[in-house]
Amino acid sequence: MSKVVVITGANRGIGLEFAKQFRAAGDHVIALCRTRSKALEDIGGIEIYSGIELTDANIVAKLPETINRTAIDLLILNAGILHSDSFGAINFDALEKQFSVNAVAPLRVTESLRDCFTSKAKLALITSRMGSMGDNTSGSTYGYRMSKAALNAAGKSLAHDLKPQGVAVGIFHPGWVKTEMVNYSGLLEASESAALLRQRIEELNTENAGRFIHADGSELPW
Ligand SMILES: NC(=O)c1ccc[n+]([C@@H]2O[C@H](COP(=O)([O-])OP(=O)(O)OC[C@H]3O[C@@H](n4cnc5c(N)ncnc54)[C@H](OP(=O)(O)O)[C@@H]3O)[C@@H](O)[C@H]2O)c1
Repeated sequence: MSKVVVITGANRGIGLEFAKQFRAAGDHVIALCRTRSKALEDIGGIEIYSGIELTDANIVAKLPETINRTAIDLLILNAGILHSDSFGAINFDALEKQFSVNAVAPLRVTESLRDCFTSKAKLALITSRMGSMGDNTSGSTYGYRMSKAALNAAGKSLAHDLKPQGVAVGIFHPGWVKTEMVNYSGLLEASESAALLRQRIEELNTENAGRFIHADGSELPW
């Protein structure tokens, strides 16, 4: 059955691929972005809202009106940033910015849109295994790791808090994906990652919610 899918960071990378694939599957896609791209416009038949700076609390507060209070079946919080850093040369402004974009903004968007969720809606948080402490064997990348760990913590609480409302929350690592974020150095194409994540989202329900899952289906340690 066709569903309404809202995607942040839909203008490029994995978010763009989500938009393409859900549209191709016959779903109604609402694409949120700061700046619309030609690739996003070329999909056709989707709603696009640009100017959505996710660190702007006023813009996020107006999201229900922006999307005309459309009932949401699936919300994919995909937008994120990565600033590499290493101990001794940490850029703390960049560290705080990553917290703001990667951890605070997804929580703020979820709270803003909570009344738009349908009774069996799903929330997919696109995190990173870099946020795992159990999986951290190489150190460094402080701001990104800390911000994604914070997102994971928010996701776990959201899984508990949204369960009574029937909303299932998934916390998903997309794999190492060839996008601008990693200078196209990944192992997976964005299309492959989005296809795998769509399977993971399909499997998601309120009983298996709140777990940290790799795009390949394996469970990651916190
Ligand atoms: N690529 C990987 O290997 C990898 C691995 C693990 C996790 N991830 C995660 O996967 C998600 C998607 O990443 P990607 O690889 O597709 O990266 P990407 O190509 O760099 O895309 C990032 C997206 O986030 C948007 N964004 C960034 N800051 C924003 C803000 N303040 N407000 C609104 N939108 C903002 C960007 O919009 P603009 O075009 O306006 O900047 C862009 O649409 C991220 O959460 C990332 O952390 C990626």
